[in-house]
Formats: sequence, C-alpha cells, structure tokens
Amino acid sequence: MAEAEDRRPGSLLERAAMQLKQKQAQDAPSRDEDKSAGTADDASAGEEERRARRRRLLERAAEQLRLQQASDADEEHRADEAVKKGQAAPADPADQVASTEKPGEEQPASGIRPAAVRAAARQGATKRSRYQELDVDRLRRLGFITPDAAPGTTSEEFRIIKRPILLNAFAKGKHRIPNGNLVLVTSCRPGDGKTFCTINLALSIALEQDVRVLLIDADFPKPEALRTLGITASKGLMDAVLDPDIDLADCMIRTNVRNLTVLPAGRQHNLTPELLTSERMGNLLTEISRRYPDRIVLFDSAPVLASSIASALSMHTGQAAFVVEAERTTEQQIREALNMIASCKHIGFILNKVRFLGPDRRFGAYYGYAYGR
Ligand SMILES: Nc1ncnc2c1ncn2[C@@H]1O[C@H](COP(=O)(O)OP(=O)(O)O)[C@@H](O)[C@H]1O
Ligand SMILES: [Mg+2]
Repeated sequence: MAEAEDRRPGSLLERAAMQLKQKQAQDAPSRDEDKSAGTADDASAGEEERRARRRRLLERAAEQLRLQQASDADEEHRADEAVKKGQAAPADPADQVASTEKPGEEQPASGIRPAAVRAAARQGATKRSRYQELDVDRLRRLGFITPDAAPGTTSEEFRIIKRPILLNAFAKGKHRIPNGNLVLVTSCRPGDGKTFCTINLALSIALEQDVRVLLIDADFPKPEALRTLGITASKGLMDAVLDPDIDLADCMIRTNVRNLTVLPAGRQHNLTPELLTSERMGNLLTEISRRYPDRIVLFDSAPVLASSIASALSMHTGQAAFVVEAERTTEQQIREALNMIASCKHIGFILNKVRFLGPDRRFGAYYGYAYGR
C-alpha cells in the first residue's frame, strides 16, 4: 500500500518537497559551522555543494515522476488489452492508494494530465487505443466543470448529484444493483439538458480519485456529447453491435482528463432500437459493466417521448438519471416517460435549469432520488 502511494505523482512531488525541506534543515547547522570556520571560500564551496544536492534530488524526483506517468499510461492500455482478450481488467492501483487515504484529505492531482503524459498517451494511441485531447478552456467557457476550475456552484451541484449515483453503482451485498454502474441519462424531450448534465456528471465523477468514467454518446439519431466535448469520432457502439469483429475497446477514446474515456455512437442504423435490445448488445454492456468494475458508464441518451432508444437502453442499465427541465416538463409527461423506462428500477431525478432570480438569473440543477417509481 505504502509503495503504491509513493508511486503516485502527487505524492512523489510532496515527498520530493519534504526531502528538500529535510535536507535544508540538515544543511542549516552546517551553514553555522561554515560561518564559524570563517573562510569565504569554504562557505561558497558548501553552498555550491548544497545547490548540487538539491538539483540532484529534484532531478531524481522528476525522473520518478516520468516513470510513474509512463506506467499509468501502460495501466490503461493493459485494461483495454484485457477486454480485447476477454480477461478481467487488472486491478487499478489507484484503488489501493485510495484505501490508504484519510477521508476529506485534499488530493494534489489536478485531474488534467500533464503535457508529458499527454504526449506519451498520444504516442501510445497510434499503436494501441485512441486518444483525443479535450480543450479544457473551451469547456470551461461553455459552462462545464473542468478539473482545474475553482469551486463553483455547478461543480457543487454535480458533487451532490453524483454521490447517490456512485453509492448505488458500487453498493455491495444485499444492496448490490445488477449493472448498477451503467447509468442511463434521459428526459422527456429534446433540449431538457441531458447532454449538459451527462457531460458535467462525467467530468465531476472523473475528479474522483478511484473511479473511472466511460461516457457513451447514446442519443443515436442526434449524438451531441462528443461534438460538444470537441471530439471527432468514427467507429462507435453501433459498429461494435453490428460487427462482431469490431472490438469495443478499439472504439473507445481516451482523453487528457484523467479517468475520462468516451465511446462514440457509431454509424446510424434504421434498426437502432432493435439492435439495442439484441442479445449481442446485452452481452457487450454486461461485459463493460463487469470488466470495469471501478468504472461508471454514463449513457447520454435520447428523449423518452421522442424515441424508443432510452426505453431500449433502460433494459440494460441498473440506474437512470432522469432530467426534468424546470418550469417546462409537466407531471403528465414525466409519468408517461417513467412508464417507458420502467425496466430500470433505480431512477433519480435531476431538476435542471432551475432559475435563480438573483442579479445574474443563472441556471442550476438539483437532484432528487426515488427508488422504483
Ligand atoms: N443547467 C444548465 N445551465 C445552463 N445551460 C444549460 C443547462 N442545461 C442545459 N443547458 C443548455 O440548454 C441547451 C440544451 O441542452 P442539451 O443538454 O443539449 O439538451 P438535450 O441533450 O436534453 O437535448 C444547451 O445549449 C445546453 O448548453
Ligand atoms: Mg443531447
């Protein structure tokens, strides 16, 4: 455990800083000795020696950090390879680290992979799975939570929204929910805020230290999630359902946001709802759910009252987050929609676009949870 913790980049830097402090503390008395020796030459030689030691220490820390980052990129690759070979994904060392951390302890990781790791991942992506970089500044401007953003209302709202979803996803024993880590995000109609909420939920969950997120663009007739994220996509879920030779792992796209992977919708097909309820689809989703037990899979799906896609997906997902647009969705519409996703027994509600009548008249989102209906 301690070893795993030491391998973390944040811990490494902290350790390097601590070692530096200790070194400086050790050096302090020798500075006094230098003074008592009284010669200017001795003092400058001592100072030079200390600087060299500090340089060596920092170089060692940087080297360890580089090695760890390379090993992190490999870890993700091994998980993808395991899926291809039909093996269980290897345990994420982050899990072991998380169990050694005290609750509430501030994590140093910014959540955005450093440039060196991004370069390594890009290089790896040409040989292994795909990688695309999100423009984090652009996402912030669009109102999305970004890993480096200062705490704000949206990030606080989504912290509250994600908590019961995470609890359900990883519930154990008699509380375990089959496929509980597969979460359908839907609503009554287009424009209610499904994509906005799914992306923010994904970005918020990606901030967790020991949970990974897979965001699936599952509004097949109108896939918007990846476009909103600025990701260009080709092969996706539908391609893998239609062609058994296509591996889902090959369609997944890793990003520079630590813990966030996305899966494109794939090609349009006129039998999409039938394909979604097919046995192969069921097998693929069960495979995703079981092989990545530390992963939350979010489906940014279609509106229930406008398409049968969400209804078909609800047969596979253990949970649903139902987006209700405040002051627009009627109770009758909600009842109708809930009937259509009745196969999913754990449905929570996101009350979205709640208008605050403050000077900025901004929107917000609130979450409420209801088991069954
Ligand atoms: N809470 C919110 N605050 C600000 N803008 C929002 C919010 N929810 C949705 N929007 C905006 O409303 C529009 C429709 O949202 P979108 O997520 O695309 O809807 P859907 O996916 O349900 O069709 C988008 O422009 C989106 O950015
Ligand atoms: Mg949408």
